[in-house]
Amino acid sequence: MKKVYLETYGCQMNVSDSERVASNLAGNGYEMTENEENADVILINTCSVREKAEHKLYSRVGRIRHADRPKPVIGVMGCVAQLEGNTLFKKIEGVDLVLGTRAVGRAAKALSSVFEGKTDVIDLGEREENYDWTVADTHRHSPYVAFVPIIEGCNKFCTYCIVPFSRGRERSLTAAEIVRQVLELRRNGVREVHLIGQNVNSYRPESNVGLEGFEGKSAFSKLLRAVAATGIERIKFTTSFPRDFHEDIVDAIEEHPNLCNWVHLPVQSGSNRVLKHMKRGHTIDRYLKQIDRLRASSRDIAITTDIIVGFPGETEQDFQESVDLVKYCGYDSAYIFRYSPRPGTPAFEMEDDVTDAEKTLRFLELEKEQKASQNRRLTRYLGAEVSVLVENRSTRTENGLTGHSTCHKIVNFVGSDDLLGQVVNVKINEIKTNSLFGELV
Ligand code: 5AD
Ligand code: SF4
Repeated sequence: MKKVYLETYGCQMNVSDSERVASNLAGNGYEMTENEENADVILINTCSVREKAEHKLYSRVGRIRHADRPKPVIGVMGCVAQLEGNTLFKKIEGVDLVLGTRAVGRAAKALSSVFEGKTDVIDLGEREENYDWTVADTHRHSPYVAFVPIIEGCNKFCTYCIVPFSRGRERSLTAAEIVRQVLELRRNGVREVHLIGQNVNSYRPESNVGLEGFEGKSAFSKLLRAVAATGIERIKFTTSFPRDFHEDIVDAIEEHPNLCNWVHLPVQSGSNRVLKHMKRGHTIDRYLKQIDRLRASSRDIAITTDIIVGFPGETEQDFQESVDLVKYCGYDSAYIFRYSPRPGTPAFEMEDDVTDAEKTLRFLELEKEQKASQNRRLTRYLGAEVSVLVENRSTRTENGLTGHSTCHKIVNFVGSDDLLGQVVNVKINEIKTNSLFGELV
């Protein structure tokens, strides 16, 4: 049996693709291994959203080739594979296989071509008509938490972003298929599902099947109610796109306790001028109305975001508007990125006129503001009880367990292994930068 080592960079969609590739390979006579040294095949699932991730691939393949061992078959999947295609064989010595973002269902087929002796095997084709979106239980990243893609691709073409080019156009799964998967996951012991997609609230299936009878002002809010009705313990969803973020989503969260109190709503900039150049399709005014609605909710909803600093033409004044926005919104957490020009995107043609040093200064200033806001948010939990899905043992403390709250905070506490997979209450008595510590109630 050929052994395959699979490593994954980037977003949850990549994690989910990797899970399905592992299922596909294991179902076709390959053995998945955690041990890189004795693998016959090393597959690298890549990300190209920012520059560094791409550089990692180049050095990673070099390290594999120069390791003291027979050279394994090296395959590249994910966004770098899709964007670079055939050129990867020329650019990086030692790559045997390139598998595009929609070709992952044919991983086993492509690998057998390699083992039949074919060179430069490449598949950048579309998903199969009958593509199997399910993941075998043993290949999920957690026995208790499952990612369920509801929409793939992106039609938004924000000017800085490579994703519409690497992941193609938006395609939604039918609600009937999504609900079927959630019910099956629930039967198999999964406690929490994450409905995932580049923009989940742009969900627009070709048919209404599975949504009949569910209320909602958009297909996505109907889907949330349909998934809530499965009775699965917890439902999270990410990422939300501000332009299409309807208040009705907050109504759905308030109606259904199993829809979790966490929304990831990337703003990208606090300046209307920059947002316009980014072609985000939302203004700060509208965004803040959504934040106000979320903050006014009876559910105490955690809000997280993504922000880019140093976008072409971003002035000190524009940047200060991002700082003010972070102060106002009081995010539970924020991913801050230095702008990185991506070849092929419209922003690549704009002058990257904020210097690296200035980008770093802005990054640090915004991070400082965010840390203060995060600390205020976390402090509110001191003395409070939160509901935690126990996901793993923690290496940080003896008999430590770790999991996530419904508001998607990492919570650590002491307890016995039989709590793994259970939902328990934890009383919070300490906060750290990115996590909560407490005692089992
Ligand atoms: N430069 C910096 N950050 C980027 N992101 C996407 N493209 C770029 C880029 N070219 C960030 C956005 C997005 C997150 C996933 O990555 O903030 O929301
Ligand atoms: Fe990229 Fe914008 Fe699509 Fe998000 S919405 S994936 S930032 S193009």
